[in-house]
Amino acid sequence: MTAATLDIHLTEADLTAALRGDARRGLTADPKCLPPKWFYDARGSELFEAITELPEYYPTRTERALLQRVVGEIARIAQAEVLIELGAGSATKTRLLLDALTAEGPLKTYVPQDVSDSFLRETADRVAAEYPALAVHGVVSDFTDTLHTLPRGGRRLVAFLGGTIGNLVPAERAEFLADLHSVLDPGEQLLLGAGLVIDPAILVPAYDDAAGVTAEFNRNVLHVLNSRLGADFDPAAFDHVAVWDSADEWIEMRLRATRAMTVRVADLDLTVDFAAGEEMRTEISAKFRTDGLSAELQAAGFPVERVWTDPDNRFALFLAARR
Ligand code: AVJ
Repeated sequence: MTAATLDIHLTEADLTAALRGDARRGLTADPKCLPPKWFYDARGSELFEAITELPEYYPTRTERALLQRVVGEIARIAQAEVLIELGAGSATKTRLLLDALTAEGPLKTYVPQDVSDSFLRETADRVAAEYPALAVHGVVSDFTDTLHTLPRGGRRLVAFLGGTIGNLVPAERAEFLADLHSVLDPGEQLLLGAGLVIDPAILVPAYDDAAGVTAEFNRNVLHVLNSRLGADFDPAAFDHVAVWDSADEWIEMRLRATRAMTVRVADLDLTVDFAAGEEMRTEISAKFRTDGLSAELQAAGFPVERVWTDPDNRFALFLAARR
């Protein structure tokens, strides 16, 4: 067996520099906001794993069941030699894809990509041990600005699952698809998982669970600013808010200051005032209509070959080929 290789295109120093920029920009904006990618330190990743097991949080289990049902078809159509998985994390859906792509096609290489170095090393090593016939080549990078670092050679299938596309605002989404278009060759494919617009009575509790795990996940971004930038946020002084924005068709998560306070961010030499009741956006999680997202993919140079949805129409998988 050959061990997994790991390319590091993003160091701790790069991450800190990016966090500093995002924190300064977001905390001095009006209204304040923070990008969702900073939820995911070790604690945040564990909280997200816990979210995926909550009764209210349907996306993960819905996507997994859907993928289980149609992965054979995906593999037969894709005939991929290389599977690139963006945001691979702990790679829970990976085995379904790897098994099908090796059984139904010529898969030779697995490329898990993630921002978290430790998580990815573990995943890459585990997959390399379980699939001795596959070359495993991990890439530590930020998919929003380093798609060009993905390895070339072999017919590639890029999997972007979990509904994470919904965390990008429309302009970021267009930029992501344009970047992906520029790094892929004609005929190479994209497998995209996206949550669909459903009844807000089901949608909102998925982002505001009774046990309060999502609330803790949301507040974790403040813990991250405290530990990485020497800030002195009191996370307990912020309430979790999740609202469905029916015009934009996205869930918005916010943190609401329960009292007026002044926060110091030592490493930025920045002082930030919060008014009582002030809300700061920490995430959007956009939901889609199959026609709308198909049109968006088509416009970005990714005509959609197939769309699969679960029986309740809560989640969709899109297979598109770069034109
Ligand atoms: C991991 C980005 C898909 O948007 O549903 C879960 C993150 N936020 N609960 C999502 C999340 C609140 C999740 N993604």
